[in-house]
Parts: sequence; C-alpha cells; structure tokens
Amino acid sequence: MSTLDGRELILGVTGSIAAYKAVYLLRELTRLGARVTVCLSEHARQFVGPLTFRTLSGRPVLTDLFDPQSDEAVEHVALAERAHAVLVAPATANVLAKAAHGIADDFLTTLLLAARGAVLMVPAMDGGMWEHPAVAANVATLRQRGVTVLEPETGELASGLGGRGRFPEVDRVVEALLGALVPVRDLGSERVLITAGPTREPIDPVRYISNRSSGKMGYALATAAARRGARVTLVSGPTTIAPPPAAVFVPVQTAEEMREAVLHHAREATIVIKAAAVADYRAKRLSPTKIKGKQDLTLELTPNPDILREVAARRTGAFVVGFAAETHDVAANARAKLEAKGIDLLVANDVSRAGIGFDADENEVLLIDRWGGSRALPRMSKAAVADAILSAILALRAASAARVGR
Ligand code: CTP
Repeated sequence: MSTLDGRELILGVTGSIAAYKAVYLLRELTRLGARVTVCLSEHARQFVGPLTFRTLSGRPVLTDLFDPQSDEAVEHVALAERAHAVLVAPATANVLAKAAHGIADDFLTTLLLAARGAVLMVPAMDGGMWEHPAVAANVATLRQRGVTVLEPETGELASGLGGRGRFPEVDRVVEALLGALVPVRDLGSERVLITAGPTREPIDPVRYISNRSSGKMGYALATAAARRGARVTLVSGPTTIAPPPAAVFVPVQTAEEMREAVLHHAREATIVIKAAAVADYRAKRLSPTKIKGKQDLTLELTPNPDILREVAARRTGAFVVGFAAETHDVAANARAKLEAKGIDLLVANDVSRAGIGFDADENEVLLIDRWGGSRALPRMSKAAVADAILSAILALRAASAARVGR
C-alpha cells in the first residue's frame, strides 16, 4: 500500500518545453496508486500528444476539444470538486497569471476554479520570466491563497542558458504533493530512529576513509516518517542534504559515534531503520600528524562494530530494519544477511545497476522479511520507496502480532 493509494488527482499540463517531464510525473503518481485524470492545455498538446497521457493514466485526457456544455465536461468539473489535489506541472507564467486572477478561459483554468482539494503548481519557465515582478506577484497571491507553488530549480534551461526556472526532480514534486495533501498519519504513535549517509573514518588530521553514500534514502525515510506523524530521530554521517525540520537531528562522523548515538536513541524507538552505509573498517592507529612521504604506505585497518547486529541483539522490542547493497545473488545474500544480523526486515538493492542505489534519485529494492516473505518493489523515486518501506513495516508488524495473538 502506498500513501497515494486511491487518491483522486487531476494533472494539468501547460505549454512549456518541460511538458514531457509531466509524463514521468504521471508514471510515478500512478505507480503510487493515485487515480489521475490529465488535462492538457492547447499549448501543451503541441509539445506532447494526448495519447501518451491517455495510455499511462488509463483515462480519457481532457483537452479544449471537449465541448464545455457536454455532460462529460460537466462531470469533469464535478471531478475537480471531488479531487484530493489538482497539480499543474509544468505551470507556465501564463497559467500562474490566470490562476492568480481567477480567469477561466479554458478547461484547465476552469477546473482550477472548481478545485476544493489541494492545489500544487510546479512552475517551469525561462529564468528571466520567473524573476519578473509580475510573475513574482502572481506567485505571492497564489501562495497567500494556500496554493503550493514549488520553487523551480537552477540549472540548464531549454533556451540553452542557465538560470532558475527548471522543472524539479519528480521526487521533489511527489514529496511536495504528499505534503500538500491532508496527510495519512498512520505513524502517529511511533518513534522512528533512522540512520543515513556514510561514516568517515579518519586516517590522519586531513584524510579519511569513506564511501559514496549520499544519504538520500535515509533522509527520504525521515521525511516520510515525520509526514506520517512519527517522532523521528535522524542520526546521520556527513551529507549535503538539509535534514527534515520535524526530525531530531544527530550529526555524527565515525562509525563509533554513530554506534553511540544509535544505542542511546534505540532505547526509546519503536522502529529502527539503518539506512546508513557504515564504513566496515577504520584505521587501526590514527596518525596525530599529517602522513608525509612518497613511498609505499601500508594502512592497517580494523573492523568497525556492526551497529545493526548490536541493536537487534539488544531486543528492545523495536522493529529493526537494515539495508544491504549487493552486486550479485541479491536475494540469497540478502536473506543470509537478515539471518546473520537477526533483524526483522532487510531492504536490498543491487548497486551494480545504473540509476539506482548510491547517490541516485530512484531506487528499486527487494524487501526480505524474517517470516520468509520477500517482495520486489518496482523502480520508483526514493520518496516513494520510503513510503513503501514504512507501509511494509506496519503491515509486517501487524501480521506478526496477529500470529502471536492466535
Ligand atoms: N551496518 C551497521 N554497522 C556496520 C556495518 C553495517 O549497522 N558496521 C548496517 C548498515 O547500516 C546496513 C547494513 O548493516 O543497514 C548493511 O550491512 P553490511 O553487512 O555492511 O552490508 P554490506 O555493506 O552490504 O556489506 P557486505 O556485503 O560487505 O557484508
């Protein structure tokens, strides 16, 4: 189950070159269980045809070719009234202006006036346009009215120039949508401890051993758990991501520091999720001064404590989840790891594949549980994977409690 299951959404697409990105967004929303009706503006149709959207949504696409007086059109206005959210992605300067002023001169802007649920706008335009005072004023008006208007990203634009105006990553749009929807607070009574990022094991005052973990998966879990009502503690090695404001944030550097923080906070946790990529080894001796010289150097390493195994062994009653990065025989290696560490659930990913795992925005994981079950999740954004993992934890825990009660 995902948190978009059964949500009724309208996705409005307007005429920006970023219109093709709405296709990826639609794919992600439907994967997450949302029921999506797409409405294309006349200009959007010049960038991407309705058939693509129709195929992916499994529903007729609304365009201005619809007769506004027809029963079908009236029905769709009623759908906008019932929809949990209307998203406009990409949103041009033109649609922002019309929405800010209540103009309803086409199907999409009419639906926007009919909308009673959340409204989310994802602007994409030329950097100069985004900064124009008229656009800024329209955005301010919309925000005052409770519309969520995402900040565009900085980067290369369709014009070939750089600037602020890029359509954001699908992941960010989904996260903003989840934040704008009336949230499912199914983790309201949970205390969730999450670890994220790499650890850094110093060799001398300027050098260290580390790994390529970005922390994205752990931070996505922390964000999702907080949104779903949990009290979240995030113990993190060094990353470049801002921690979710609702989480208690405990920054650490080394595996030893992470161990201390985890064992301390695990006492209160009902769920422990170890998404961190803990360095397996540290230098046996830390050089107090910078190591100099050009000759061969042998570093003696010693294993770090296995924090996950230690947490599981303490049997605090928390549901314990680990991660495994595998390059081959993923299912077999993951089950062996789950058993060796004595944990409840293992989230395994195949890091040998491009576009998933370390530093990627998407992930495709296999969930292996202690009760013999395994489930492959499709490739999706890390935000969506986070929600799926949290839902799986709740389901597995409930099923195990039911078995004990029987
Ligand atoms: N972990 C830990 N403490 C360590 C090492 C790992 O808590 N010293 C946790 C990680 O946070 C992750 C899981 O254990 O949840 C990963 O297990 P690990 O044995 O490190 O798996 P891999 O990194 O996949 O290692 P390998 O296959 O090399 O054993």
